[in-house]
Amino acid sequence: MRKPFIAGNWKMYKTPKESLAFLDAFLPLVEGHTRDEIAVFPTMSSLGYVLEATVGTNVRAGAQNMHWLNEGPYTGQTSPTMLVSIGCRHVLLGHSEQRLYFNETYERVNLKLKAAINHGITPIVCVGELLAEREDLKTEETLRSQVRAALRNISASEARRLVIAYEPIWAIGTGSTASPEVAAEAHKIIRHELSHCCGEQTADNTRILYGGSVKPENIGALMQQEEIDGALVGGASLVPTTFANIVHYA
Ligand code: 13P
Repeated sequence: MRKPFIAGNWKMYKTPKESLAFLDAFLPLVEGHTRDEIAVFPTMSSLGYVLEATVGTNVRAGAQNMHWLNEGPYTGQTSPTMLVSIGCRHVLLGHSEQRLYFNETYERVNLKLKAAINHGITPIVCVGELLAEREDLKTEETLRSQVRAALRNISASEARRLVIAYEPIWAIGTGSTASPEVAAEAHKIIRHELSHCCGEQTADNTRILYGGSVKPENIGALMQQEEIDGALVGGASLVPTTFANIVHYA
């Protein structure tokens, strides 16, 4: 019922030229692949080119962030209407790098989520605990409060297209993935909180992706877990053959 979703977060990598070279190599490798939804999230400078190059293919492209207002004196920001105007229908929200390095707040993630929903943009809301929180046995509390804050005043019907990415901060870019069991346990907590916020049906239908050092070698075991509905891949999504191998997990 929940179609698996494999997404590549390119972070601050790849010029437009490099992004298009990636697609030249990657698109043929996943041509005709329908089992999973596939998306890449390039930088804002490449997004328009990537959107254009993926028209008519099975690969979608989205933004790594956005503002919640349509326009205004906010230097450095991009609005939901601007994303829609270039054909962008996906956005990452609340990534831990935004939270850690750019002061992204729980409140703003909620405003952005509402704006994405209002503009028909599929939001992928990222949540995840720090190593210290896990060690202090605060994983559940952290995940629940992140989900609750993001979904404040959002109804079940509004949450219809929501996607969540569970990205434990200690697993991002470190090479140490959460074990499939640890990830599935966290997904259960997230799904439970979703059902509190938006009802059981929404919780059942919402895809929860795992992110944090996903590689071709570990994707298969992760996807075996019923709770894991896909992956948000950083480093390993930058190389066409590697990302294609992840998409083709067995
Ligand atoms: P890595 O796959 O490089 O650990 O990054 C994960 C991530 O942050 C995806 O959003």
